[in-house]
Amino acid sequence: MKIRITVLEGDGIGPEIVGQALKVLKTVCEIGNIGLELDSQLLGGAAIDKTGAPLPAETIASCKASDAVLLGAVGGPRWDSLPSDIRPEKGLLGIRSELGLFANLRPARIFPALRDNSPLKPGIAEKGVDLLVVRELTGGIYFGRRGCEMVSGELSGFDEMRYSEHEIERIARVAFDSAQRRRKHVTCVDKANVLESSRLFRQTVARVAANEYPDIALQNMYIDNASMQLVNNPSQFDVIVTGNLFGDILSDEAAMLTGSIGMLPSASLGASGFGLYEPIHGSAPDIAGRGVANPLATILSVALMLKHTFGLPEYARAVEEAVEKSLQTLRTPDLLEAQERSLAGYISEAFGAKKTVIQAGTDEVGDYVVQELRTLLVR
Ligand code: IPM
Ligand code: MG
Repeated sequence: MKIRITVLEGDGIGPEIVGQALKVLKTVCEIGNIGLELDSQLLGGAAIDKTGAPLPAETIASCKASDAVLLGAVGGPRWDSLPSDIRPEKGLLGIRSELGLFANLRPARIFPALRDNSPLKPGIAEKGVDLLVVRELTGGIYFGRRGCEMVSGELSGFDEMRYSEHEIERIARVAFDSAQRRRKHVTCVDKANVLESSRLFRQTVARVAANEYPDIALQNMYIDNASMQLVNNPSQFDVIVTGNLFGDILSDEAAMLTGSIGMLPSASLGASGFGLYEPIHGSAPDIAGRGVANPLATILSVALMLKHTFGLPEYARAVEEAVEKSLQTLRTPDLLEAQERSLAGYISEAFGAKKTVIQAGTDEVGDYVVQELRTLLVR
């Protein structure tokens, strides 16, 4: 087997975290005897600095010639004052759209070693968080008509939120297929009590369920209620299917339930199994270049790549297991801070529980995961 990956480090902590994820990918390829070809390309602020545009044609061409894309993060204050069509984020939205990556899978679960990190009350966290946000990624308000114009003597900005049936049907199928491999429960999240696009979203998801997935339990929930239920009773969720904007918001909330936004990977998939893999967090310019960024979300994105694009679930599981192992021994500062902030962490501190994990940097965590992976895979 031979695979070709386009690597987009992006901005801020991007290069640091992608570096660790590549160590893990190389280890898997070495052990699995998989030929690995890497092609590094520019995206976001880094691309603006070098070429003047956030998404160079060469980057698109390389991605299209690859089996999968590994991405760090884009954006930073340096590019914040640029006009909206040449901002780093435009590069990210552009690559998703150019590659037809309409389905964004964002799994959120509490790793056993991080149980004390969740900001949830211990009683709620104990019931577990293990959910999958399936976010529509190439439609809705992110890609509708937009503008800012003079109306009655003042500026008026607008963004159109539009969903067509075929866009809803295909994301619904991804959600139902995912649910079939999980607990067979899907919550459709929308604002159908107010928005027309949401009404169509809800009806279409229900039709796909009735016609094609009779064995899946489908529940509807308004976005405001869903964001409340996520903190109040997250164990009720299995798969959440929703539009682009609501999915963006709910996935950050879901990430925080697990203890740190630095833990959540994502897969953005097209129709053919091709995928782009990236952490859901941003480029964290405040800690960039200091070697303290948490690489685990990017490493876990490699696990998603192995599972979804390359059909290697056993290697994906090994990477996840190696991550869990690393958490028992060493953690980046974000995870240690989250633990101090959480109620459970506060209580164990107050009662003088001995600290068993040590603080480590980005590189050390990457090395540790690689070492654990070798132990798991080389027997
Ligand atoms: C995400 C990010 C992006 C989004 C931004 C950077 C454009 O927040 O991947 O969740 O809104 O999709
Ligand atoms: Mg987001």
